[in-house]
Amino acid sequence: MNVEGRHYRTIWTEGEGAGEVLRIIDQTALPHEFRVLDLHSVADACRAIREMWVRGAGLIGATAAWGVWLAAREAEHLSAEEFPVRMAMSMEALRVTRPTASNLVWALQRQQKALAGLCGAEAVAAAHAEARAIADEDAEFCRRIGQHGKALIEAIAARKPGQAVNILTHCNAGWLAFVDHGSALSPIYAAFDAGIPVHVWVDETRPRNQGASLTAWELGRHGVPHSLIADNVGGHLMQHGMVDMVITGADRVTRCGDAANKIGTYLKALAAADNGVPFYVALPSSTFDFSLRDGVREIPIEERSADEVRVMSGALLDGEGQSCGAASVRICPEATNARNWAFDVTPARLISGLITERGLCPASEEGVLGLYPEQK
Ligand code: MRU
Repeated sequence: MNVEGRHYRTIWTEGEGAGEVLRIIDQTALPHEFRVLDLHSVADACRAIREMWVRGAGLIGATAAWGVWLAAREAEHLSAEEFPVRMAMSMEALRVTRPTASNLVWALQRQQKALAGLCGAEAVAAAHAEARAIADEDAEFCRRIGQHGKALIEAIAARKPGQAVNILTHCNAGWLAFVDHGSALSPIYAAFDAGIPVHVWVDETRPRNQGASLTAWELGRHGVPHSLIADNVGGHLMQHGMVDMVITGADRVTRCGDAANKIGTYLKALAAADNGVPFYVALPSSTFDFSLRDGVREIPIEERSADEVRVMSGALLDGEGQSCGAASVRICPEATNARNWAFDVTPARLISGLITERGLCPASEEGVLGLYPEQK
């Protein structure tokens, strides 16, 4: 995606050899400031994921993969006996940063295979090559998701000539959630770039407001027409025929098609089913967890700090309504207890289809394995 005329991925390296540095966009500063941070160590990578400087399933996976490269660089001087022990500790530190998105464990498993039996400079080179491959694959798979999803938008556009296709999305499954393009937003960008009129309803996505701060920001940068709505508006819009389709991303999808995504997604799926609105989930294969069947019972759901619910952050406004700094405000009585589950699971029966890099499939074991026969 272009920012101020320059193409950025969400994670990249600059420089060469010992001077090569890993860079990310600090997503906690958006939309108010576009800030690039350097990650120097595996501890930095862990902190970036845990504190959500980077977030979104694909980007969490890519950051973990690059984190393994940083870990290998830090351990390069260790003996052939010490090196794998240190690397196992670093991978475990990365693994426990966030529990729900499959991409994290998937990326670590790929790195583990790539590094098997290696140490020193050879291991550093292998970790670098694998991290680059994971990042490139993430970007390419998301691009393909865009092409497959575009066909769905095109079909709806053909039924309402001259009018915009209204698409509702929840949270941020755009460019910022992956290395490039995004999952749920990739079809929207592809349709918009092809001249299909689209309009996006952007759920604010309490408590961290990824819709308001990230999705609205990136759609605006790309010029895609959109409107920010409060989290509970979607059902009302669907009842009044103002939503043609819903597309969300996912953090983990079982082999039977149950999809974990940002908290509140399930309620949108229920409203969509009640109103006959098609509800699609877009994901690359790295987000499938082929070992699981029943998402509600088996997918681990992250519970984050209660303060994310109790306190809101944003731009401080002066008397003229101009922003003049950042501010955090508590929105409940000081003693109020809160709980903060970050994800929920939408059962496959509520999902019209899964949009993957291999194409569209029904949200069912048959459908998923039809696209991924090697997982049978
Ligand atoms: O907590 P986050 O911001 O890392 O949550 C991830 C999300 O943004 C989503 O739920 C998204 O739709 C899937 S990630 C591609």
